[in-house]
Amino acid sequence: MTRILVLNGPNLNLLGEREPDVYGTVTLAGIEVAVAAHAAERGVEVQFQQANGEGELVDAIHGARDGFDAIVFNPGAYTHYSIALRDAIAAVAVPVVEVHLSNIASREDFRRESVIAPVCAGQIAGFGAASYMLGVDAALSLPGVGA
Ligand code: DQA
Repeated sequence: MTRILVLNGPNLNLLGEREPDVYGTVTLAGIEVAVAAHAAERGVEVQFQQANGEGELVDAIHGARDGFDAIVFNPGAYTHYSIALRDAIAAVAVPVVEVHLSNIASREDFRRESVIAPVCAGQIAGFGAASYMLGVDAALSLPGVGA
């Protein structure tokens, strides 16, 4: 069975109460329930992990080498400056789909660049919680990932 790690970075644990005008009122737990249902319909196993620290996220990416076929990753603010996360993604063979709730291209200048995008399979941004579902489907479309 295909296994996908859905990994979330800093401040995403506060979804629901955090800047609802930007990120909506859905909680991370709510997103996880929706993603789990979406994955189950496709016969895919998903596991969820969230960390606020850069090192924990690096470890999670390394850990995905053990049994995961793909990672759906929202790196939060690290997107824009973490070379450590970029290098971790480049270091593993597991493909990564970058996802964002908001459309980072339409926000402040400092959010327009993603330093991880060049080492990801692709990026989905701007669809709110649906970005994660689209991320799972994008991962399944990659060679060698889908059943
Ligand atoms: C985000 C966009 C980032 O710029 C921001 O720092 C986040 C959330 C998103 O999902 O839209 O924490 O990754």
